[in-house]
Amino acid sequence: MKIIELDEVDSTNEYCKRLETDEDVAVIAKRQISGKGTKGRVFISESGGVYLSVMRFYKEFICRDAFKIMVNSCVAVCKTLESYSVKPNIRWANDVLVGGKKISGTLIENSFANGGARSIVGIGLNVNNPIPDELKDTATSLSLFTLKKISAAEVGSELIRNLGKKYSVSEYKSYIDFFGEKVTLITPQGQREAVAIDVTDDGLLKVREEDGGISLISAAEVSLRNRWK
Ligand code: BTN
Repeated sequence: MKIIELDEVDSTNEYCKRLETDEDVAVIAKRQISGKGTKGRVFISESGGVYLSVMRFYKEFICRDAFKIMVNSCVAVCKTLESYSVKPNIRWANDVLVGGKKISGTLIENSFANGGARSIVGIGLNVNNPIPDELKDTATSLSLFTLKKISAAEVGSELIRNLGKKYSVSEYKSYIDFFGEKVTLITPQGQREAVAIDVTDDGLLKVREEDGGISLISAAEVSLRNRWK
């Protein structure tokens, strides 16, 4: 796959959208000025982190494929972290944590036409970039966690290599350590508690509600919290 390396960009996802191509491409930047997070949030992207987007074109696309793309991204991040002897966990749907703190997030932007799709998988991974004081309770980086200075370029190359492999939903689930635990479901309407049971093959979180009922929840509606804060 073609790889475009940039010193600075607004957002690697936005850069991909501007490319006039129908070939798969990876765009990696040392720094982003307007990094985008999920749910319209800003993703602070100072030098030292990995800011990567992989744009792929699919001739046929079914809804279940959307979760497979998330699976591949999160597991590739986990495998990359493991190569630095770090034990990662996935916080459904798109965050990777180490030591209970977020180290990486994925923002996937899909668009559809004529039965096919263009998928842009944007991954931010904290390596040596500074973590602002106000986020230090909830976020970390590879260098903070390992107390070593690790090359962001090397981590980026390893991540691109891992993104070329195929991972299964069961591998994704093997990184989830909160099944059977009470989680807080945060919705625009308010919060409620439920016990996380499973993640379905199309990416829904299965929970047992406090009244004993089972619900299937989509990541678009709900964020999660438990012991991670
Ligand atoms: C999140 O955790 O909210 C998702 C963060 C995704 C950040 C990455 S960095 C590379 C790509 N370009 C962006 O503007 N966002 C994604």
